[in-house]
Amino acid sequence: MKPPSPNRYRTHWAGELRAGDVGAAVRVAGWVHRRRDHGGLIFVDVRDRTGLLQLVFRPEEAPDPHARAGDLRAEDVITASGELVRREEGTVNPDLPTGEVELVVCELEQLADARTPPFQVDEDEPVGEELRLRYRYLDLRKERMKDNVILRHDVVKAIRDHLSEEGFLEIETPIMTRSTPEGARDFLVPSRLVRGSWYALPQSPQLFKQLLMISGFERYFQIARCFRDEDFRADRQPEFTQLDMEMAFVEEEDVIETVDRLLQRVLAVGGVEVTLPLERLTYDQAILRYGSDRPDRRIGVEIVDLSDVFEGSDFKVFGGAIESGGVVRALKAGGDWPRSRFDALTSRAQELGAKGLAWAVVGDGRWRSPIAKFLSDKEIGGATARLGAREGEAVLIVADEPGVAARVLGGLRADVAEDARRGHDVFWVVDFPMFEWNEEEGRWDPLHHPFTAPTGDLEADPGEWRSRAYDVIFDGWELGGGSIRISTPEVQQKVFDALGIGPDEARERFGFLLDALTYGAPPHGGIAFGIDRMVALLAGAGSIRDVIPFPKTASGIDPLTGAPTPADPRQLKELGVRVEEAPATPRNDRW
Ligand code: AMO
Ligand code: AMP
Repeated sequence: MKPPSPNRYRTHWAGELRAGDVGAAVRVAGWVHRRRDHGGLIFVDVRDRTGLLQLVFRPEEAPDPHARAGDLRAEDVITASGELVRREEGTVNPDLPTGEVELVVCELEQLADARTPPFQVDEDEPVGEELRLRYRYLDLRKERMKDNVILRHDVVKAIRDHLSEEGFLEIETPIMTRSTPEGARDFLVPSRLVRGSWYALPQSPQLFKQLLMISGFERYFQIARCFRDEDFRADRQPEFTQLDMEMAFVEEEDVIETVDRLLQRVLAVGGVEVTLPLERLTYDQAILRYGSDRPDRRIGVEIVDLSDVFEGSDFKVFGGAIESGGVVRALKAGGDWPRSRFDALTSRAQELGAKGLAWAVVGDGRWRSPIAKFLSDKEIGGATARLGAREGEAVLIVADEPGVAARVLGGLRADVAEDARRGHDVFWVVDFPMFEWNEEEGRWDPLHHPFTAPTGDLEADPGEWRSRAYDVIFDGWELGGGSIRISTPEVQQKVFDALGIGPDEARERFGFLLDALTYGAPPHGGIAFGIDRMVALLAGAGSIRDVIPFPKTASGIDPLTGAPTPADPRQLKELGVRVEEAPATPRNDRW
């Protein structure tokens, strides 16, 4: 970091002093990280943003500071000055960047007192997350959290630098706006001036970035805060940040190439080197081989289709499934597990929606399995060969509709993976279906969003339509997704029709977009990345909460401020809002 301008508090950053600075008169400021009393000497590690420096208090040379150092407690705020010296042989700390030097203090001033913190800042021992979030300002003092916040800055800066160099303009879009559907519930803000009306917080800047393309800005990006009221998990927060981008006069290839270059540069900031072009997998391949459209391919196990092997099988579970349009698919896994492990996997398969799970351990030409007696030698031989299974290896088989078989086996892959997931895997999934059938609601839902351009025969059943969408997957997380957009009102209405949004409703909800599309809309497309997810993956954090300075819990609560809170009745009256239910007491959070 650039050296500080010397003032009454500091002349140097504590963490940046090195052997080359020995002999300098130095003043540093920061927090007491740790204090150790050694006979007459007192050692205090002082911490500022740049790191730690050891201060030494000698009783003979500076009796007054020495006496006051004896009263210092962890997290007190101090400024200290003295001479920087080389540490004596044998006391050098090779783990600390400042480990070759120490500051012999001749002057100490305590600037603030600290109460005993609810957890130790100088250790990364496990602390309950509720407590960490309640005292987040202390949690953020920990090195790991500080490093995450700094990495986040570096990532966002690399994005801004790279996209600016490539001619993208950073443009802001409104936070108080109309609903932008991305598949979640909206957060609403009541209007005081237009009583009974509500702003929606954007689920994404999707419609505004399309309008910016129609305005002629050609290349746009934004580090955009988005809001989605959905179930929160390790990789989801109610408010999160996207890198949102859009380009005019482009096709899939142009967006993908632009993003490849961007990702190569940005991921390198977190030490992840990727070679270009990033691999592309079609949606169908991903589902067939991994049972998921965001697979973690670092798990070596792949799904194998055995439908042709078991076609016409006398074993009705398999033969019957195929006859009624289903499939028989399998995983080869691990080894000769005890019966209890197969029972556990069967329960897990049922949780994932399977009717059952057939399993076998490969023996010499035969299978050890509850279903072996129902299968012919030819079937067993064929399946063993197709799976490439060796003696002693286990086989897990699911017979069901293709979607269920994929989901179940895709879910089991992680359960049976035995080797550690090493390195990183970043790739594209392309060529998605346009819609998926929502069984509960009895309607089509878009796989991405309703503004994605469809391809294929639009006269055919919507289930047959494909979309011009693409996703980026990073170690099994969906890092980003985008598409080429619809740029004519006719196709837009066709997609709305398929979703059951008739012309009147479309006009009511999206009239501004349909109008804009009639005033010269260029072909355009783009993508958005989850910045929280990107930083979490680069930081090796298990949850995006660890890379968001002030996140919310799984039930959307901020333990630090106590938000959300009931509103003042006067405020509600002014807004014309009446609360029907008593304020809910927040339930305990599940992490
Ligand atoms: P999508 O809904 O796929 O696309 O969102 C893009 C990326 O945003 C991240 N993300 C989230 N991160 C944290 N918490 C959440 N609740 C959350 N929801 C999404 C993910 C995801 O890949 N407008 C389109 C993009 C486009 O078509 O250009 C969109 O928002 O990393
Ligand atoms: P059943 O005929 O239902 O007793 O099942 C015989 C064997 O096939 C048991 O081991 C079940 O676990 C297994 N099985 C049942 N349904 C399926 C299925 N859909 N896919 C794979 N195996 C199944």
